Amino acid sequence: MRPISQPINIKVLLGDEEHDLVTYKGEYRSLMMLLFDKLYLEDFGECKGVGRCGTCLIEIIDGNSSLESYDRNEETTIMRTGQDATNCRLSCQIPIDDNLNGIKIRVK
Ligand code: FES
Repeated sequence: MRPISQPINIKVLLGDEEHDLVTYKGEYRSLMMLLFDKLYLEDFGECKGVGRCGTCLIEIIDGNSSLESYDRNEETTIMRTGQDATNCRLSCQIPIDDNLNGIKIRVK
């Protein structure tokens, strides 16, 4: 029997707004898909998770250290955005799992 997934709580800063999102492991393909669906962000995630457009950039303000390493071509894409890459990730490269519980992020 499959265990029941625990809720994953994510605090999101978007401009002056603060949002508390709740999701479950595997509910969305990536953090980008969760943010796009729940916050109705325009011009966000334009390449739909390929990791090339850089429009899904987030800053991890408070989070699990396992989120600090880049995936595949992520570092190159972040550099191309011209933004300060400190603590930044492409949200499309972050799966929805327990590592996200309790994190605080800012949509760039
Ligand atoms: S959706 Fe394009 S880089 Fe993440």
